[in-house]
Amino acid sequence: MHIIYIVTLSPVRKNRAFFMLNFMKQLYNKYTKQDHLVWECLFERQVNNLPNKVAKEYLDCLENLQPNLNKTYIPNFNKLDVGLSKFEGWIIEVVPGLIPVDDFFSLLANKKFCSSTWLRKMDQLDYLEEPDMFHDIFGHIPLLAHKPYADFVAEFGKIGFAHAENEEIVKQLQRLYWFTIEFGLIRQEEELKIYGAGIISSFSETNSIFQTKAIIKPFDLKEIIETDFETDKLQECYFVIESFEQLYDSLKEYKMMLKNQTVLKD
Ligand SMILES: [Fe+2]
Repeated sequence: MHIIYIVTLSPVRKNRAFFMLNFMKQLYNKYTKQDHLVWECLFERQVNNLPNKVAKEYLDCLENLQPNLNKTYIPNFNKLDVGLSKFEGWIIEVVPGLIPVDDFFSLLANKKFCSSTWLRKMDQLDYLEEPDMFHDIFGHIPLLAHKPYADFVAEFGKIGFAHAENEEIVKQLQRLYWFTIEFGLIRQEEELKIYGAGIISSFSETNSIFQTKAIIKPFDLKEIIETDFETDKLQECYFVIESFEQLYDSLKEYKMMLKNQTVLKD
């Protein structure tokens, strides 16, 4: 069984996305009791699974957001925004799933993280063809309350927005996003921990990653931006950072590479 996470950096027709971006809201009253039950199952199962496997900052942030992000109910984005924004100023932007790259980068640069509002069904707990709200919110949102990580994501958005017309740079940034924000690992107290949302929101990948035959490599910006990934199977390669500050600093390195044009092929 494959769990498929489609990175949001996929261009769609501008007009459609513009229309949807400006009119999409979370219709909270539309969620059924069954939807809330699915959320509770997903949340409880994974929050019990994560200790000792996830970066400690993730658990700290999750606890800090607990009043509006917990197992009891599907989070109300308006309320979660109030709690989340108190930390590093981030809020949630409801999107249709796939949006143009320049919009995506612009939202990140302005501390708005994209989320869908639909939730998988009870018979889909471990199978997804595209990211749902559990992935977007449970996986991505907590660490945006941690400054070095949140600064990295915003800076990533700024660089992307400045180069959104350059296909090669966008491709490199897709890879960087994939191997960090989605599937990143961090070393803490000499142990590997997860921080990528694609892993955090997946019960099976959280458990399989430490028994995996996948290659685990130290973080190397140049290698990452040249490494292709596949979205429809478990990862064959993960990159490990030593700290979230290292992640942020890698963007200084990337900007220097862009300035010196050492990342662009002839
Ligand atoms: Fe994601």
